[in-house]
Amino acid sequence: MRIAVVPGSFDPVTLGHLDVIGRATALFDRLYVVVTHNPGKSALLGLDERVRLLRASLADAGIEGVQVDSWSEGLLVDYCRRVGAEAIVKGLRSATDAGYETPMALVNRDLTGVETLFLVAQPATSHVSSSLVRQVAALGGDVSPYVPRVVAQALQPEGPVRG
Ligand code: PNS
Repeated sequence: MRIAVVPGSFDPVTLGHLDVIGRATALFDRLYVVVTHNPGKSALLGLDERVRLLRASLADAGIEGVQVDSWSEGLLVDYCRRVGAEAIVKGLRSATDAGYETPMALVNRDLTGVETLFLVAQPATSHVSSSLVRQVAALGGDVSPYVPRVVAQALQPEGPVRG
């Protein structure tokens, strides 16, 4: 059985993430999407909320058979070992992404031998990032072109004050 892990902060999950997860389901027998704590980033949403939005988004998109989990107890490679995954799958949007992802892929491989596979982002989502979504949402902009419907609803500011 071929098992892979799609890790990320998913703060929040975007349409780009959903595309990568959907494509990865076709390549593996079992897929774990794992929400991790990234010590280098300050989070907008709590881990549980990110997991909830991922599950709801996958269900709405009709992407089935994916286990959504969270992991904040250590290295990603330890999680991979725990679930028996031989590969990590990540999306690649740009050369900047490649520069950021390559050292992580090599360190993860050094640690336990787990391989990282990159799926190239579709042009329609290659400019979409969780950090831009957070920024647009924080300043009151419309994030619905970039995120699943349930996420747009969750990030939506309170309606205008009437009266
Ligand atoms: O969505 P992100 O923030 O780009 O994902 C980065 C992530 C979560 C994959 C990375 O921060 C990670 O792997 N965190 C778990 C801790 C770990 O294993 N760190 C060593 C990476 S070489």
